[in-house]
Amino acid sequence: MSNKTELPRTLVGETPELVGKTILLKGWVETKRDHGKIIFIDLRDRSGIIQCVGFKMMGELTTESVISIIGEVKSRPERMVNKDLPTGMVEIDVKEYEILNLAKELPIQVEGDAYDVKEEARLKYRYLDLRRNRMRKNLKLRSKMIQSFREYLFDHNFIEVETPLLSLATKEGARDFIVPSRFNPGKFYALPQSPQQYKQLLMTAGLENYFQIAKCVRDEDLRADRGFEFTQLDIETSFASQDEVMSMVEEMTKYAVKAVGAKIKDEKFPVFTYEEAIKKFGSDKFDLRTQEDKKTGLLAFAWVVRFPFFKKVDKEDLAEVADGKSGWTFTHNPFSTPLEEYVDQHLEGKDLDKIIAAQYDLVCNGYEAGGGSIRAHKPEVLKATFKNMGYSEAEIQASIGHMLEAFEVGTPPHGGIAMGLDRLAMILAGETSIKEVIAFPMTSSGRTAVMDAPAAVDKTQLDELGLKVVEKKK
Ligand code: AMO
Repeated sequence: MSNKTELPRTLVGETPELVGKTILLKGWVETKRDHGKIIFIDLRDRSGIIQCVGFKMMGELTTESVISIIGEVKSRPERMVNKDLPTGMVEIDVKEYEILNLAKELPIQVEGDAYDVKEEARLKYRYLDLRRNRMRKNLKLRSKMIQSFREYLFDHNFIEVETPLLSLATKEGARDFIVPSRFNPGKFYALPQSPQQYKQLLMTAGLENYFQIAKCVRDEDLRADRGFEFTQLDIETSFASQDEVMSMVEEMTKYAVKAVGAKIKDEKFPVFTYEEAIKKFGSDKFDLRTQEDKKTGLLAFAWVVRFPFFKKVDKEDLAEVADGKSGWTFTHNPFSTPLEEYVDQHLEGKDLDKIIAAQYDLVCNGYEAGGGSIRAHKPEVLKATFKNMGYSEAEIQASIGHMLEAFEVGTPPHGGIAMGLDRLAMILAGETSIKEVIAFPMTSSGRTAVMDAPAAVDKTQLDELGLKVVEKKK
């Protein structure tokens, strides 16, 4: 084969500019049409699709095989122009080609939207499923959205910091995923339900403006807008008031969603108190869009503020029962501060149902897209939260002693938010499940895509960890 190594790769999208040139293309066989001596294939790469024509060749190609082609870019005659394709005015006259990876019969089809294909099959062969246009578009949109958030935050003097995955339970109100320790048999790490405590410790450390694209892991019931693992844009800032944090988040959100082409219903996000929201919409995750707004794909953001700090424990919920030993647990975040006028009541542990937290949630099109608060930064306020939930002195020390200690060495007032990036990307993509914007999501029953976890482990591995599997009591 001749001069293949000398030619640089050309992308499909560049071909309309290269009429008359001999070029090297690499990509996937999207379709093949066999007309006897003449065979047409559509070649796809990340930039687009182009028709390639071969004379007495390419008969052995199968769809989704990976090939390289050397050929000449030719203008198509006027009547053969395909107006539906950006490369429709040209085609490749194939001179030679090489099969880089021959595809056998595919277990799932790559064409179409796949809304009607079974989830199990789509996730088992996710690498094929992701080849479809819809999925590629969704992943690109997600990437662009995250890029835009980063741009905004870097422009506003935030620094990106990573926090540990293996740590102590983070108290976000869900069950933990735990990881056994080989060095400390019988002891466990918990995967983070959020970076909440570490980001607050970064405020103690004097960073002032932090953010992270953070993986969070929660063992809670799966739903279309909920995964065991999900991604937050996690933010924390020092010395800012609730209004200041909310307006920064509002500006940032508008910047990022507009960067991916979204249109917003109200430029100034309306603010509702929790009480108003419940009265007006019967829910704190409401949809402000009209039928017309829905048709035009508008995003309707709104804030909800003045949430009750505490609620009665739901006895069916083991995580709540564990946290709310007094029969009361937090509604949103145990690290929040009560609003100023409720601090005394909070310290005294009186009328817990009436205490209002400095908590703010961002809703969008009927989903909770983000949530945050101004935090307790004084040890006595944080301690009172756990006392109100019925923690003993020893239990307080064991679960948040490290935070109380940090709050005694110069911790600035601070607050922040976490945006649910999967949900936002889902809304922006016009999808109704976060799985459509996650590369390798789990099935509805919590099994991983492509690789089949959870799975049993070897006895030697269990022995090393000092673990024994016993039958679960019903
Ligand atoms: P919260 O628990 O409200 O707050 O989470 C913030 C946002 O994350 C998204 N989210 C989820 N998305 C997909 N699957 C899930 N299981 C899931 N759980 C939450 C939601 C939610 O609004 N530490 C606080 C934030 C803070 O106060 O700064 C926290 O994690 O969009």
